[in-house]
Amino acid sequence: MNTFPNDFVWGTATSSYQIEGAHDKDGKGPSIWDAFCTIPGKIHKGENGNIACDHFHRFKEDIQLMKQMGVKAYRFSIAWARIMPTGKDGVNEAGIQFYSDLIDELIKADIEPWITLYHWDLPLALQLEDDGWLGRSIVDYFATYAKLCFERFGDRCKNWITINEAWVVAILGYGQGVFAPGRISNSEPYLAAHHIILAHAKAVQEYRNNFAQQGGQIGMTNNCDWREPLTDSEDDKIAAERALQFFLSWFADPIYKGDYPEVMKERLGDRLPKFTADEKKMIKGTSDFFGLNHYTTMLAAENHGVPKDQSVYGNGGISEDQDVDLSLDPNWKTTLMNWAVVPWGCKKLLHWIAERYDNPDIYITENGCAYPDALVKGEVNDVERLEFYKSYLQACQQAITEGVQLKGYFAWSFMDNFEWASGYEKRFGLHFVDFDTLERTPKASAKWFAKAIGSQSADV
Ligand code: GAL
Repeated sequence: MNTFPNDFVWGTATSSYQIEGAHDKDGKGPSIWDAFCTIPGKIHKGENGNIACDHFHRFKEDIQLMKQMGVKAYRFSIAWARIMPTGKDGVNEAGIQFYSDLIDELIKADIEPWITLYHWDLPLALQLEDDGWLGRSIVDYFATYAKLCFERFGDRCKNWITINEAWVVAILGYGQGVFAPGRISNSEPYLAAHHIILAHAKAVQEYRNNFAQQGGQIGMTNNCDWREPLTDSEDDKIAAERALQFFLSWFADPIYKGDYPEVMKERLGDRLPKFTADEKKMIKGTSDFFGLNHYTTMLAAENHGVPKDQSVYGNGGISEDQDVDLSLDPNWKTTLMNWAVVPWGCKKLLHWIAERYDNPDIYITENGCAYPDALVKGEVNDVERLEFYKSYLQACQQAITEGVQLKGYFAWSFMDNFEWASGYEKRFGLHFVDFDTLERTPKASAKWFAKAIGSQSADV
């Protein structure tokens, strides 16, 4: 049996808007997702996160379920507007209390808290008054918010993720308009991303300058799918590489190398903002680990400037900018999201990161899949999800054997939840949630995951 290292971090992940509910409880301010969900046509069946999994009231029960699985770590996010209702000044002590209790409860259960500061639910006031991520002022607002979190939670939380998936914020939120704040543009994504990177760096600087004595680690989590060249041709290989750079290096290069990738500068011209020399210095090296959310793989071919249908090709970035033709191998199995299940793509991506960024410590902070689960006689027999986790974890284990410094793996998600524009239909959980009664039931995949943790192996 192939095993993982003893100190491998096994975890599950969630995010605030997707599970908490209590959207206006105890002084919480509205976020852009609260507002976005009220716009007709944006969310499947007009659903929203007002109640979600009601984790706000049920977190103790949820932590017990995590404990039963034996997870070592739990990654959750803080709703900025719950602790700072306008995102600017004014602290909501009731909100602080909620997260403080959550952290205490985790520690009591021997589960390490991993906090994401920003998982997309920007305080609405910052959007209306300061243009959200398009305004430069957000860099300072974010650092102030981060400081408050370090002050109040840093005595007990030692693992920090500044931003979850800047690519999604920029492309889906400011490019295609399918996520909050719903803007459609071919230049705003690059400006929003620029401010996200600066905000991340400033928060890390704050942590390192003023909270180093807390002894924690801090980094950013980015998402990336694997891009496999469609053919052996030089053109397709270059196209696949370019697609990865537009996806991941957009954010990772400034942090690990000090600036955007050359290929983006060449293709985007003035639409790609420039960092000053001081900013480059401030940004470089601001990640103690490489946080990676990985879900799927696509084939990549040179596109030669042929116009693309954004609804199909959106997943690649702003498609005309990268000019890559993306497709699926018809032999691949797909999930309910129509994402292909390709474990070897995960392994190849881990090697690609190790090579490009000098073998950093990597944490897979999300990996998982949606299937149409059903509760039958009190059980959910989600064999496909179980097989998914098994095959991806086996690929991870092989990557470690081959020298990749993969230090941990967080399953997305601990439980079924509000899957953004797809609403509640797309179930990603290890636990089934009945959204009428809010009852939780461990799925077969949760039981398997617990066994894998117990034996430190995916070969179970
Ligand atoms: C990620 C995101 C999560 C979750 C997951 C599944 O992009 O961080 O919030 O929704 O995808 O789609």
